[in-house]
Amino acid sequence: MDYKVADLALAEFGRKEIRLAEHEMPGLMALRRQYRESQPLAGARITGSLHMTVQTAVLIETLVDLGAQVRWASCNIFSTQDHAAAAVVVGPDGTPDQPRGVPVFAWKGETIEEYWWCTEQALRWPDGDGPNMLLDDGGDATLLVHKGVDMEKTGVVPDPDDADSPDLAAISRLLRRSYAEDPRRWTTIAGGIRGVTEETTTGVHRLHQMAAAGTLLFPAINVNDSVTKSKFDNKYGCRHSLIDGINRATDVLIGGKLAVVCGYGDVGKGCAQALRGQGARVVVTEIDPICALQAAMDGYQVTTLDDVVTQADIVITATGCVNVVTVDHLSRMKHQAIVGNIGHFDHEIDMAGLAAVPGIRRVPIKPQVDEWVFPDGHSVIVLSEGRLLNLGNATGHPSFVMSNSFSNQVLAQIELFTKASEYPVGVYTLPKKLDEMVARLHLDALGVKLTTLTPQQAAYLGVPVDGPYKPDSYRY
Ligand code: NAI
Repeated sequence: MDYKVADLALAEFGRKEIRLAEHEMPGLMALRRQYRESQPLAGARITGSLHMTVQTAVLIETLVDLGAQVRWASCNIFSTQDHAAAAVVVGPDGTPDQPRGVPVFAWKGETIEEYWWCTEQALRWPDGDGPNMLLDDGGDATLLVHKGVDMEKTGVVPDPDDADSPDLAAISRLLRRSYAEDPRRWTTIAGGIRGVTEETTTGVHRLHQMAAAGTLLFPAINVNDSVTKSKFDNKYGCRHSLIDGINRATDVLIGGKLAVVCGYGDVGKGCAQALRGQGARVVVTEIDPICALQAAMDGYQVTTLDDVVTQADIVITATGCVNVVTVDHLSRMKHQAIVGNIGHFDHEIDMAGLAAVPGIRRVPIKPQVDEWVFPDGHSVIVLSEGRLLNLGNATGHPSFVMSNSFSNQVLAQIELFTKASEYPVGVYTLPKKLDEMVARLHLDALGVKLTTLTPQQAAYLGVPVDGPYKPDSYRY
């Protein structure tokens, strides 16, 4: 078995944490029981590109339990938990000497070049075939396939010198090499893919852009917009893991501080609530009048970053946008202000601009925590080099919330793999019935007792007794 992880000796620790996580992931474990016998994913070859954490290990082993073959890479250079990666490679029945699990290509602290190499390894199957399903978080595996196909179709091999980001330069180098080896590689791989299930807001945004441009090559299920994903993982997950990341990185007291949250979508709502829960004075910035009004109604001051940047102790970006925190903002911040991003990509804080400030010094405090000292002596503390801090500085969302997200992933994989002909190229969400099912799978663990509609009440509301209860337009 080919794989590349930090250290297989960590597998035993990883297995122990996976065992504890399984108990906290009732949705995934129920899906194992429900589908193990029928093996709906038999024949599926799934390439996953999603943070290689303990929770993801439970997802991977659920996919395998349902019949799939799987290869995996992480979707961020800092988010891998090395013990989880090791345990997945070793597998429940293997040993470090004789690994029998799933090929994983991921370790904490990859370079950008290594990151794209890992993504490529997950997409290239040893028998020469590619995957027939993608499971993506942020869309990087999907992007690589599309860029490869585009190159092979046009015959224009990208030039790394023309790339306007380190990621694009690394992709260009990878594609150059691949074109020299096999000028049809990505076309062949794409031709075998039945579809992709996408985990996050930013990846879904990319899919919609490709669908609108007519360049999307295969159907996609938007897992993010299952209610039991975005209204739980993005909100309650970040409510937990934002604070975890700040604490592990800095251990600074949050109470009494002025914290700015940029973006009041699902992620921003969870972040603002968490910071307020710690006693911070929270200020929100928004571009969308609806979200700005929501923040105001929730009791937050809403203003521009320009207005508060000189007083802020903590600035968190949660927008999925670019250049939200500029070099000008960074240079005007208080001494030792903490700056972090919890959005998917590292575009929200202008890190390249910061590094280019004449005379600036980067002082690494510990992995994923850097003090950037300006020539005048004042500094800012930047978490995870501007990449998502909850996975870079801490361990991401806890198992219970990820059980919701990943139950949607499993159902989406089954749906697309088994009913590919029902999904022409486009972007879809799972039916509400399945969304409600995911929620149901998590009620018992929390001691929730649901009220059942009487037939008379159901007729009055015009919904079936056992759901679905809301129209698709309902916003929760
Ligand atoms: P969303 O679309 O619900 O919220 C983003 C908000 O930011 C929107 O309300 C938008 O109006 C606002 N915004 C956009 N540009 C802005 C700007 N320049 N200044 C201020 N506000 C601005 O998206 P969601 O679901 O909250 O996700 C946000 C990001 O977080 C995405 O990149 C997503 O992929 C990522 N994400 C990260 C997670 C993590 O664990 N770190 C978990 C889930 C999502």
